[in-house]
Amino acid sequence: MSTIRIAIDGPSGAGKSSLAKAAAGALGFLYVDTGAIYRTIGLHIYREGVDPADQEAVTAELPRIQIDLRYEDGQQRMFLNGADVTEEIRLPEVSQYTSAVSALPPVRKFLLEMQRELARSHSVIMDGRDIGTVVLPDAEVKIYLTASAQARAERRMLELENQGTPQPYEDVLREIEERDWRDTHRDTAPLRRAENAVLLDTTALNFQESQAALLRIIQERMGPT
Ligand code: DC
Repeated sequence: MSTIRIAIDGPSGAGKSSLAKAAAGALGFLYVDTGAIYRTIGLHIYREGVDPADQEAVTAELPRIQIDLRYEDGQQRMFLNGADVTEEIRLPEVSQYTSAVSALPPVRKFLLEMQRELARSHSVIMDGRDIGTVVLPDAEVKIYLTASAQARAERRMLELENQGTPQPYEDVLREIEERDWRDTHRDTAPLRRAENAVLLDTTALNFQESQAALLRIIQERMGPT
């Protein structure tokens, strides 16, 4: 039986992970958070004290990075050289490092095949920045999920508060805007809406409304199953 691929791209904080995870649960698909894979590289570079914008230095580290994904109770966990780093990759410093290293072509090349392989062996909902444009250009369903920078900053602030690491609104908004700029302006695989991707703007929607809208788009695109 052939697998089905659903690609969800969009800026950080648009709710991609939580919405994609919920939709994957509803459809019985595997959820792949590709941001977590990039973050694992960002964490290694951060720990090693390497300048994340120095392509040569970052490339020299790649052979020393072993990344594994494991699913425990349906949750994707990330392993860096054998150690579970699922929580650590969410630190704000790691987000900034990841945004910088993910702009480097050798890093993107290093991860491309790994992402494609996951979609060959399972029906997936994969979220990221270039899934519909580069990783899975033939995906059956493509969605561009976004929300205003202000709405995304408010949601991120709540998330950080719940994690016990609160930050002022202005700082969160600035970090989101900086990452948006870098993710959309890099030369290799910049964040952009694929031509045939359906736009879903969740600025004015709560989680339940966003989830219903996402499932509706997927069902319309997949047709009767
Ligand atoms: O989705 P996220 O915020 O966890 O992603 C972290 C960083 O990784 C983000 O700044 C952009 C980068 N990224 C990417 O370049 N390509 C992807 N497919 C996923 C993430």
